[in-house]
Amino acid sequence: MLILGIESSCDETGTALIDSEKGLLAHRIHTQIDMHRAYGGVVPELASRDHIRRVLALTDEVLEEAGKTRSDLGAIAVTEGPGLAGALLVGISVAHAIGYALGIPVIGVHHLEGHLLASLLADPAPRFPFVALLVSGGHTQFMRVQKFGSYELLGETLDDAAGEAFDKTAQLLGMCYPGGPGVSALAEKGVSGAIELPRPMMHSPDLNMSFSGLKTAVLNAVTKAPNPEDPQFRANVARAFVDAVTDVLAAKAVRALKKTRLNSLVVAGGVSANKQLRARLTQEVEKRHGKIFFPPLSLCTDNGAMIAIAGLKRLQAMTPEELDACRKRWSFS
Ligand code: KG4
Ligand code: ZN
Repeated sequence: MLILGIESSCDETGTALIDSEKGLLAHRIHTQIDMHRAYGGVVPELASRDHIRRVLALTDEVLEEAGKTRSDLGAIAVTEGPGLAGALLVGISVAHAIGYALGIPVIGVHHLEGHLLASLLADPAPRFPFVALLVSGGHTQFMRVQKFGSYELLGETLDDAAGEAFDKTAQLLGMCYPGGPGVSALAEKGVSGAIELPRPMMHSPDLNMSFSGLKTAVLNAVTKAPNPEDPQFRANVARAFVDAVTDVLAAKAVRALKKTRLNSLVVAGGVSANKQLRARLTQEVEKRHGKIFFPPLSLCTDNGAMIAIAGLKRLQAMTPEELDACRKRWSFS
């Protein structure tokens, strides 16, 4: 079975082809970052229009790379939400149109389930059950994943997501959107401990987190500094911020493994591309003789491959009746 994945929930258009036997055959991502940069964030209307321009071309590109044609497709998986309504509509409309024309099932995928399952495309891939840390621009959550489709929320941020805090810190340090990679690179030049920042909720007995106070602490450090433009000062702020975020996420990850008595941790979402976080979590999990999994670097941020793999898993879990209903949705008779 050949499955096409389409992602268009925010500012990346992603397409991918997965073969149920051979795995990922091809994937493409077009990022709109340069287009939105001038506005300091994503402009929904511009995002939708750009998805329209890209999605069919990117679909043809993955088919061509894999040596396939549209008639080889057995199903289409598409991000159903959450995301920007207009942007989502583009991917959904294209998926439904192709699905209807070919008479194949169209499977709606939850964007976060896509992120969560992106690690199944890593080598080695995790085995269920595991604890998942989903850390992106919109979410920071711990989940117990007992098996495919069984997701129990264990704890989450009570305010900002970690990725959002990265982006705000980048802005305060005069860097452009999205800020994660820039803050991470700048932190490499900073001195740990030169600036003190709080670790909100790190010692709370639950698995909830909070990152908005950290953002305010960065704001205070920058506004009170005699020379906020000093390159070493900026690097020290970035270092202090990254140290604080990784300390909190590492402490909570260990707590989540202890609480669930599981020994595998899967990290997913845009912030899982972060070098310092990867190193710190790996160290903590290995200290406990546990196993840690990350998506391949190119599949950490939004992409079509994670939607295709989640769609394939959904398809394989469907009863014949459910699959039939999935096809019938596109019949007008
Ligand atoms: O998962 P994603 O692409 O989109 C959402 O679903 O939110 O995550 C985007 C977030 C942004 O906040 C971005 O700054 C952050 O992931 N990010 C990073 C890195 N790469 C992306 N944060 C820290 N370090 C990185 N290397
Ligand atoms: Zn995402």
